[in-house]
Amino acid sequence: MGRVVASAPGKLILFGEHFVVKGYRAIATSVNLRARVDVEETSGSWVEFHSPTLNLKSRVPLDLGGFHGEFEVYVEILRALRREGYSIVPHRVVLESEMPVASGLGSSAATSVAYALAYTALLGDPLGRDELLRISFEGEKVAHGRPSGIDNTIATLGGTVVYRRGDKPTPVNAVIPEDYTFIVADTGLKRSTRDVVEHVLKVAEMLGEAGEYVYLAADRIVEKALKALETGDMRLLGSLMYVNHGLLVAMGASNLALDTLVNIARVKGALGAKLTGAGWGGCMIVLAERGKAKAIVEELERHARMVRPVSIHVPGALIETL
Ligand code: MEV
Repeated sequence: MGRVVASAPGKLILFGEHFVVKGYRAIATSVNLRARVDVEETSGSWVEFHSPTLNLKSRVPLDLGGFHGEFEVYVEILRALRREGYSIVPHRVVLESEMPVASGLGSSAATSVAYALAYTALLGDPLGRDELLRISFEGEKVAHGRPSGIDNTIATLGGTVVYRRGDKPTPVNAVIPEDYTFIVADTGLKRSTRDVVEHVLKVAEMLGEAGEYVYLAADRIVEKALKALETGDMRLLGSLMYVNHGLLVAMGASNLALDTLVNIARVKGALGAKLTGAGWGGCMIVLAERGKAKAIVEELERHARMVRPVSIHVPGALIETL
């Protein structure tokens, strides 16, 4: 009986979340927190899912019928694979993630990508990158109603990309000088991406032409951020992060917990800070000089559930053992 472990990285949206949903550009990067999926063929007549992190288990019949609660996203991956001609064989799946769930770091997309890769490798026909992007997007549609596709793109490709809905993602040659670091802080507040996305879209609709200017400003920030990333101009990059956070506040995607963490980072001398992902809780990111990082981390820790200096621009999906 075969067994395969595959992994995929989480993502940080550096610029452009929400605005990307309506076709504007965003910049996303991979982060050194990974989802790992262990798939083992069994002799039973089920697909068995186990998430030690969430302390959840479920058994799904091989015809994949019915609704499967917390595991629906992964059952959808199997349905998409079946449509592509892959057979559904009995197997056990253990899903683990170093990212907090529903916190904006793309844990569900990374897990979907790692699962699709591990399962198809188990069958001896691992998906290529383009197929992996397509199949994992089916899982994203279940996770929330109008996904832009940015989360599963980064989980698959790794690195850093400029992303526009419907276009091929463009890799970015990000230069982060040694003296600088990113820090991630989790508010610990869970929220549904779908709800925040719907809210922001409603605000945009209400604002009409005025809303379009906000989206255009966000897009121009992406353009400038791209240059700052490619030339290693961290001061400019940080300023743009604060401005991007302001636009997300304006559109109703932030909340008190996120604004508190962003303000703490600013007061403690961070070059930049913003919410990352959908908002209304979840995570925020900080860009700081290494010399100031310790003081910033210590102050954030007084208000956040988890705070971590992280590396960005790491490898995408890969098979870890065969
Ligand atoms: C969620 O990580 C990012 C959003 O822009 C939604 C999406 O792009 O699908 C809020």
